[in-house]
Amino acid sequence: MWNKLARCAPLFLFLVLSGFIFLLRNIGSIENLNLKTVSALNQLQYQISTALQPRSPLLGVRNLSQCIYPSQDQSPDEITEEKLLLGLIAWPDSPQRNPPFQRSSSPFSSSFFILNSRIQFTVGEQLEALVRMHDFQGRPKQHGGDFLLARIHSPELKAGAIGKVVDHQNGFYSVYFVLLWAGVLQVSVTLVHPSEAVQVLKRLREERPDRVYFKSTFRSARSFETTECNLCLPSSHRPLCNFTDPHTGEPWFCYKPRMLSCNTRVDHTKGGYLKHLLTGRERLFFQSNVNIKVPILALGSDEVTVESLDNEGKYTDQSKLERRTHHNTVKFSPAGFYYQDAWVSNTGLIQQFNNTSITECLQGKAVHLFGDSTVRQWFEYLTEFLPDLMQINLNSPKNVGPFLAVDSEHNILLKYRCHGPPIRFSKVSTSELRYIANELDDITGGKDVVVAFTIWSHFSTFPVEVYIRRLRHIRRAVLRLRARAPETLVVIRTANAQALDPEYSLYNSDWFSLQLDTVLRHMFRGLDVVLVDAWEMTVAHSLPHALHPPPVIVKNQIDVFLSHVCPVKHK
Ligand SMILES: *[C@@H]1O[C@H](CO)[C@@H](O)[C@H](O)[C@H]1NC(C)=O
Ligand SMILES: *[C@@H]1O[C@H](CO)[C@@H](O)[C@H](O)[C@H]1NC(C)=O
Ligand SMILES: *[C@@H]1O[C@H](CO)[C@@H](O)[C@H](O)[C@H]1NC(C)=O
Ligand SMILES: *[C@@H]1O[C@H](CO)[C@@H](O)[C@H](O)[C@H]1NC(C)=O
Repeated sequence: MWNKLARCAPLFLFLVLSGFIFLLRNIGSIENLNLKTVSALNQLQYQISTALQPRSPLLGVRNLSQCIYPSQDQSPDEITEEKLLLGLIAWPDSPQRNPPFQRSSSPFSSSFFILNSRIQFTVGEQLEALVRMHDFQGRPKQHGGDFLLARIHSPELKAGAIGKVVDHQNGFYSVYFVLLWAGVLQVSVTLVHPSEAVQVLKRLREERPDRVYFKSTFRSARSFETTECNLCLPSSHRPLCNFTDPHTGEPWFCYKPRMLSCNTRVDHTKGGYLKHLLTGRERLFFQSNVNIKVPILALGSDEVTVESLDNEGKYTDQSKLERRTHHNTVKFSPAGFYYQDAWVSNTGLIQQFNNTSITECLQGKAVHLFGDSTVRQWFEYLTEFLPDLMQINLNSPKNVGPFLAVDSEHNILLKYRCHGPPIRFSKVSTSELRYIANELDDITGGKDVVVAFTIWSHFSTFPVEVYIRRLRHIRRAVLRLRARAPETLVVIRTANAQALDPEYSLYNSDWFSLQLDTVLRHMFRGLDVVLVDAWEMTVAHSLPHALHPPPVIVKNQIDVFLSHVCPVKHK
């Protein structure tokens, strides 16, 4: 507390001094001490009070129960669905609260081995590996909950696919792969977070949804004020402005400015990230090169040799693969795999698009992109790649949008707009702050209309119920759109894996992303929407994970996307 005050003291002094200077400058025209001056003084006072207010760590745990489903009650079906979704992503609790670091899972003393190792496999067969986790003292772990990722790859063929990890909750994990191409295939298993770290992430998700916070500026004539905003704010100590969306009922609040009214809000910005969220012991569970995304080594060989079925080098015929794997129970089948750095999908032929064929494909079409920066990458990729697709200058802030591009010769329209709050963008003006569901309601739709959205990353700091509610609104809007214009193509780009360090993990861990992604896939299952599986496409690739995947991965996402917009016509 004293530490904080000491840090704020220079700022306090500065503000007091500038207040005096302000007064001195205005003292000559004291009769003009009008509303403006009062408001400026008030602003000053407010800044002083916020500067001195210890930030949220001292406010303690926020009570979220009133934030999750505020006014609208869920229907019985929705309650059932939510239970099912939460069950789907349930993660085992640790038997011991706050264990010492030495007892936490260590990638260095853990290992995996290939179970059904043989001299030779053929394409389409399954491979199974078993992971045995140990702690830093070499003792075998007796419980599960570690977050592992696995992939199988052939570096010289630029080929890769993900494996499925099954937690046996006793320190053992099975990993299942399908061998989808011929060659020498190498198995990799990575410890993303030990179970002890996942417990911390679970706690933060429920107790500290304010660990990323937001701000808005309120402006009227020459006075302005900035206050904190979030999906949920403790209302006990200050009045709130209620910016709950009237159409969807999505909640959003800001602290009311001292002098200005709530309807003077002009923008929304990312406020910042709370620090000092962890205890000293918890910090040890989040160390780069120790227990964040560290490979687990193989006992014995980590390679297998796979022979082709038809001497083509890789399987090309899905039905052949299905026949082959029919007799064995397939424990897992990935959405696709890379071969020569090109994505091969199990849901249809993926074409390789060049600039000419993209233009042909999009001729006469309107493409609406909605969501976070990972779908903005599609806009950037297409406008950079297609010289005839001219971006119109809307004077939108860089990286924020909205963005618009047209190719008037080929009658192509491409739009991008970010999703509504919570969004951690630099500055979105209030007039451009829109919810995807409401935007979808404004689209007529039709056979030449394509809608693609992605929404995940900015929800990772909130309880999953918040995400479920958002997706329900979007799902309803998708159903309305498909009801009035059944030929409209709807595409969802899923979450992707990203680079993690100790700090970033607390806000953006892949563990949060995967939980949300599981919910999303389930909620849109069977709805005739296309998924672009960015999760598999980042985890299967050899390039390091990044929030914004590198160009080769974006190219493959675009190829998958366009292969659904312009499928190969069968005779
Ligand atoms: C949170 O608030 C709800 C009602 O607003 C109340 O019923 C509940 O007891 C509170 N929980 C805690 C832990 O304070
Ligand atoms: C905010 O407004 C919505 C409707 O506009 C209302 O249902 C909700 O109860 C309000 N919340 C608070 C905390 O005032
Ligand atoms: C672009 O792709 C199409 C179809 O795949 C192909 O016919 C054409 O030759 C390619 N054009 C260029 C310039 O590579
Ligand atoms: C497509 O790209 C090639 C080279 O990559 C270039 O020569 C050609 O002009 C481009 N065509 C169009 C229509 O942009």
